[in-house]
Amino acid sequence: MQQQMDDLRAKALASLDAASTPAALEEWRVAYLGRKGPMSQALRGLSALAPEERRAAGAQANELKTLLEERFAAKSASLQDAVAATIAQREAIDVTLPGWRPLAGHLHPTTRVIREITRAFADMGFQTVEGPEVEWDYYNFEALNIPPGHPARDMWDTLWLEGQRPMLLRTHTSPMQIRHMETHKPPVRVIVPGKVYRHEATDATHEWHFHQVEGLAIDEGISFADLKGTLYEFARRIFGVERKVRFRCDYFPFVEPGAEMAIDCFVCEGKGCRVCGHSGWIEIMGAGMVHPDVLRRVNVDPARYTGYAFGMGVERIAMLKYGIDDIRLFYANDLRFLRQF
Ligand code: PHE
Repeated sequence: MQQQMDDLRAKALASLDAASTPAALEEWRVAYLGRKGPMSQALRGLSALAPEERRAAGAQANELKTLLEERFAAKSASLQDAVAATIAQREAIDVTLPGWRPLAGHLHPTTRVIREITRAFADMGFQTVEGPEVEWDYYNFEALNIPPGHPARDMWDTLWLEGQRPMLLRTHTSPMQIRHMETHKPPVRVIVPGKVYRHEATDATHEWHFHQVEGLAIDEGISFADLKGTLYEFARRIFGVERKVRFRCDYFPFVEPGAEMAIDCFVCEGKGCRVCGHSGWIEIMGAGMVHPDVLRRVNVDPARYTGYAFGMGVERIAMLKYGIDDIRLFYANDLRFLRQF
């Protein structure tokens, strides 16, 4: 019995020494300390011995079992420490290293300018509304006094879509004048920012896709003086309090009289420079008093109500504000350009 225990001890301790992973250690535990292992067997075998032998053998067996359990616990703890140490080393973080600055997104210059414009008009009582980019011929042209075959259609190079009824990518935001008045009775004061499209060869000042902001005010007793006052205030808000404003006659079929508005060049203060083409003035929008026929079409009585409309190119205003000399930069997605705003 003594001999048997000594052999078992030697074998068990040698193979415990050899176990170097948690899995091997577990295997060892099952083999030596498990229910079917030699220790359990030895303890069960005690009952077959004579009483005087049994006591000594029992003591020996228990002693060995305790020893193996202790060694197992110690080995298990040291293996866990080793594993933890490896993980700690692999995942070590040097808290003294400088951090990364998170990349924060920001607004596109077009969005910024649209927000600035709509805010300026919001302060003057205008509400912002939006409309569809794919439009019927009726809203883009016909309801705006530009029937099929009208020569004024040449003013807007149009991208047509296939369909049963004439459909197009809107060439301006003016169709929203009609759409809004169809569903809203005067008084009306709205600003309409949005994308527009033209069948255009692109160059530094022309894009086939750009943005406009439309304005429309209809009420009793609105005059051209209201139009001038409102747009004058707008120009001061966007380009500075020093700005002068010039109105000249222009033609758009849906306004009468029609005008083009310019501000005195804020680069040369009107003396003439490259930005203003040496004229001292920069044209920023078309405007005018809404044509009586346009009002009649949406069942607004032109004898009672009058109003004005205007439309400006957003990128053009952004180019003037930020000194950008090529409209194609806006949608080229060049980060070197976009990061500047
Ligand atoms: N819609 C016109 C354009 O795109 C601009 C405009 C709007 C003119 C409203 C007069 C009144 O050219």
